[in-house]
Amino acid sequence: MTARSIIVLSMAAAALTACQRPAAPVSAETPHVLAATDVAAGRYLVMTGGCNDCHTPNYARTGGKVPETEWLKGQAVGYHGAWGTSYPNNLRRTVAGMTEDAFVEMLSTREGLPPMPWPSVRAMAEADKRALYRYIKSLPLEGDPAPMALPPGQTPATPYEDMTMRVPGAPAQG
Ligand code: HEC
Repeated sequence: MTARSIIVLSMAAAALTACQRPAAPVSAETPHVLAATDVAAGRYLVMTGGCNDCHTPNYARTGGKVPETEWLKGQAVGYHGAWGTSYPNNLRRTVAGMTEDAFVEMLSTREGLPPMPWPSVRAMAEADKRALYRYIKSLPLEGDPAPMALPPGQTPATPYEDMTMRVPGAPAQG
C-alpha cells in the first residue's frame, strides 16, 4: 500500500466518523450506497429500487411523473392473486410507527406477501436499510394508511389489479 493510498483511506475513515454512521456496526467489506448524506443515499435507493412503482399512487402508470411530495404514501389499489390481496403500505406511516432498528429487522427477516420484493430488500446491506429509513422519515407524515390485506378467496371492495396467472384454454391458476 502506498503512502498516498494510506492517506486517502484515513481521510475516508475520518469522513465516515464525521457523518456519524449508525451505532450498529456495518462491515467495511459490505457493499452499500455512498452519498453525501444517508438521506440522499435513501432517496437514491428509492428511485433505483423501484419502490415508488407500487408505494406511490400513479407512479408506474405515468412513467414516474409524480412529484416527490406524493412519494411513498401507499395505495388503496390492491394486488390480487393466489396470496389474497395485498396493499402497498404508506411507508411514511410505517417509519413513523417504528424505530430504525425495528425497520432494519423487518426488512431483514419478514417473509411478507407478493408482489412486494421482500427477497430484494432482504439482500440489501444494513447501511442501505438504514438510509431508506432515514430518507422516508425525512418526508412529512401525510397520506392515509393502506387497507388491510385480505386472505385468499375474498373479492376486494377496493379497486385492485388482478395478478392471477392465466393460461389460455385452462382455468385460472392463481
Ligand atoms: C411490485 C410492488 C412493490 C414494490 C416494487 C415495492 N413494494 Fe413494498 N410492498 C408492496 C406490497 C403489496 C406490500 C404489502 C406486503 C405485505 O402485506 O406483506 C409492501 C410492503 C412493504 C413494507 C412493509 C410496510 C408495513 O408497514 O408493513 C415495506 C417496509 C416496504 N414495502 C418497502 C419497500 C421498499 C423499500 C421498496 C423498494 C426497494 C418496495 N417496498 C418496493 C409492494 C411493493
